[in-house]
Amino acid sequence: MPDSRVPRLRRFLVCEPRHFAVQYSINPWMHPDTPVDVDLARAQWQALIRAYRDHGHTVETVEPVAELPDMVFAANCALVLGGRVLGSLFHAPERRPESTAYDAWFVGAGYEVHRAESVCEGEGDLVPAGRFVLAGTGFRTTREAHRQAQELFGVPVISLQLVDPRFYHLDTALFVLDDGEDGNIAYYPEAFTPGSRAVLARLYPDAVIATREDALAFGLNSVSDGRHVFVASRAKELADQLDRQGYVPVPLDLSEFQKAGGGIKCCTQELRP
Ligand code: ARG
Repeated sequence: MPDSRVPRLRRFLVCEPRHFAVQYSINPWMHPDTPVDVDLARAQWQALIRAYRDHGHTVETVEPVAELPDMVFAANCALVLGGRVLGSLFHAPERRPESTAYDAWFVGAGYEVHRAESVCEGEGDLVPAGRFVLAGTGFRTTREAHRQAQELFGVPVISLQLVDPRFYHLDTALFVLDDGEDGNIAYYPEAFTPGSRAVLARLYPDAVIATREDALAFGLNSVSDGRHVFVASRAKELADQLDRQGYVPVPLDLSEFQKAGGGIKCCTQELRP
């Protein structure tokens, strides 16, 4: 284990939660009758952005659109790799219009934008991990979209089958600790079928395995820069494990966003050069 892990500075795209709310239910966390504390949500989101900037990362913003309460979950809008964008085709009709706003941002920023041909929810399910893209399916992104991503980016895509509706996106059950050639991940095995679990065990024999409690606290919806891990503050045991592995946990509370089934990573789209 290296005693000094080196961060790689990132560029992120985020969307202010100006219109954030739970107005419909498209995952088991969402109960439209539970109120969201809008001021608290805004403060939690601002603390996340501040933490990114304090650690040297660049944060860009896309203008939020009224009537798109889930647009704050920027991770779902695309996968950006090597300057190319695979724009999402959302599963839920309620979220489909988000693509127009995000695609316009990418085009304006000079990216080559490709459109997903079947349901595909960006970094929610497509997680670049060094030599591979790890790809979730079962609830949202289709295997057809995995194939399209592999063709578009020319990176081997490893399909992983999700089984628990509370972990409906891959980024709720797994995150990349460092994305170098011999990178490592953290994950919650019970979110996957036995076959997919075996694939992960084979690829990442030294992975950090999260407890059920930490997974349910959205501990795996984390962002790592290779050294600092921006992680849900309630995922205590996970933070201890990361600390023992030489990472520096940066605990953040995004409780209001969990009411929509989201967390730190969901709010963060990485713009990979
Ligand atoms: N309410 C949103 C949905 O169900 C939450 C998305 C969370 N994003 C994520 N990357 N897991 O689509």
